[in-house]
Amino acid sequence: MIYLDSAATALQKPPQVARAMVWATQHCASPGRGNYAAAAQAAETAFQCRTALAELLGAAGPERVIFTSSATHGLNIAIRSLVQPGDRVVISGYEHNAVTRTLASIPNLDQQVAVGRLFDPKADLEAFAQALERPTRAVICTHVSNVFGYILPISEIAQLCRARQIPLIVDASQSAGILPVDLEGWGAEYVALPGHKGLCGPQGIGVLLCGKSSNPVPLLTGGTGSESLLQAMPDFLPDRLEAGTHNLPGIAGLLAGVRFIRQQGPERLLRGEQTLIRQLRAQLSKVPGLELICPEDPALATGVLSFRLAGQDCEETAERLGRRGIALRAGLHCAPLAHRTAGTLETGTIRASVSPFNRPEELRALAGALRQMTEK
Ligand code: ALA
Repeated sequence: MIYLDSAATALQKPPQVARAMVWATQHCASPGRGNYAAAAQAAETAFQCRTALAELLGAAGPERVIFTSSATHGLNIAIRSLVQPGDRVVISGYEHNAVTRTLASIPNLDQQVAVGRLFDPKADLEAFAQALERPTRAVICTHVSNVFGYILPISEIAQLCRARQIPLIVDASQSAGILPVDLEGWGAEYVALPGHKGLCGPQGIGVLLCGKSSNPVPLLTGGTGSESLLQAMPDFLPDRLEAGTHNLPGIAGLLAGVRFIRQQGPERLLRGEQTLIRQLRAQLSKVPGLELICPEDPALATGVLSFRLAGQDCEETAERLGRRGIALRAGLHCAPLAHRTAGTLETGTIRASVSPFNRPEELRALAGALRQMTEK
């Protein structure tokens, strides 16, 4: 199989991730809930993972790194902690359903989408500046569009929020591991991300980073191994947000993934992805009837490329590619807002997304298959 769906999940991972998960399954008990070696081993693994993540992603300390089940879970905690019925929120034009459906579940929101000319960071920044002229409860912004790989000017958007003291929530689902994520540098209230994409960890583990001024409200209540007499959730992190037994195999796998990323270097990984996508763009631009939907400047996007074929259904095309052993995703990618912004809501797109494990010949095979399919 040629796997080109890494924006959905990093199926190809360094082998040490699976090894760490097997090790944790065999050797780790429950952290913070026992005085024996296997419980201490679990606590140490969780602490090392929090520490590595805090260093990589700019959290003030390991206790501000919360383990969740997914980025969606973290975004739900962040949004529900900050946004109340009737509030005004500003979001980018590229948000995923993890944000838009969560906001839709809060009654009577005044929601403004800040979007400028398509794939133009300067115009997006101006749109945010304009939207933030009115009092706003929170800004929620993705760092990178999962559909188009477009990199939003998040540092500058964060600066606008800081200057106006508006809390910022960042969805770093598509950027953690390849772009600088800097919770405290941005002054963000929360940053949410999955473990199983750019960080090369397993599915089922995510991270919520809590800023120094955040006051998170638990979504889940229950045992934490601390303050057991108390019937409210503890008021300190990470316990406040981590009820129930931890996903230790997930945490150990994520730690192995983060170590791999730090050893490779996010910048180098991004450069590798962008090189592959530049090659793919050049090859796909020769396919008759194929429309690329991406920033003109390839440096404004990560290892993701969306396209569509004139007169052909995107999902059918992806299915035909799947029968040829090429795995990619087509449709709306759980982000109808991003498609509305790009003018592709009616058709959706086909999305190729790469990882450090892809090779140039795999992208040539995709271009060749599309050429054949459009010739017939
Ligand atoms: N949000 C993920 C994607 O873009 C699952 O495919």
